[in-house]
Amino acid sequence: MKKQFIAGNWKMNLTLDEAGDLARKLYVELDNSSAVDIGVFPAFVFLRDICDIFHGNKVYVGAQNMYLEKSGAFTGEVSGGMLRDVGCTHVIIGHSERRTIFLETNSVINSKIKAALSCGLKPIVCVGEKQEERDADKTYEVVGDQLSEGLAGLTSEEAGELTIAYEPVWAIGTGKTATPEQANEVHTFIRNTIKSKYDVDTAQSIRIQYGGSVNSKNADELLGQPEIDGALVGGASLESGSFLDIVSAAGRLS
Ligand code: PGA
Repeated sequence: MKKQFIAGNWKMNLTLDEAGDLARKLYVELDNSSAVDIGVFPAFVFLRDICDIFHGNKVYVGAQNMYLEKSGAFTGEVSGGMLRDVGCTHVIIGHSERRTIFLETNSVINSKIKAALSCGLKPIVCVGEKQEERDADKTYEVVGDQLSEGLAGLTSEEAGELTIAYEPVWAIGTGKTATPEQANEVHTFIRNTIKSKYDVDTAQSIRIQYGGSVNSKNADELLGQPEIDGALVGGASLESGSFLDIVSAAGRLS
């Protein structure tokens, strides 16, 4: 079994003080065991402070988004190099909120993944279908397109740097979780897609997280599925107790 990767997507939440308190609680509570990989993804403006709190120990720190160019006249945007500069190791790319609200296409996501990799950031690439797409039996078609267009042109070494997060859009922030079986089925599809695009080794080594209303109650069952290698957690990552419960659930499996 691969090492599980539990990531907390804080989204546009918390004040600077609250973000600092949450990070310090996690730092104190987490032991030094490396049984589980853990990451937090605060808002851009808090990244430097949160990186300082963890100073490279116990928890990876990453951004929720980045721009695809290295520098220049792109008012309001943040480059991968800037993220590296403040201590980030990871970046979430293609979250469904970026796709839906900020109209990011698979092709933009593909460029962002390449830009992240070129400056040494490890992307968590999000994929997932909307409710109407699931109802129309289009889950595999949608997720298949997100993977083939999103990962276009990546070598197997580059693909090996990615974490994929399967986040059914209908399960995000709704309290409606995919059943462990539903999630495991799509994870299997994702792994098979990676296998046919690359090779068995890449497919086996890549971690596929589940995201969408993961909490302390459902974590055991979801993470216990054979093809689920971790979780991308939104709401339940804003409170240290529930996030640590999910980390513990992952720890029991490793
Ligand atoms: P949620 O969010 O856990 O609040 O559903 C998950 C995500 O959007 O990454």
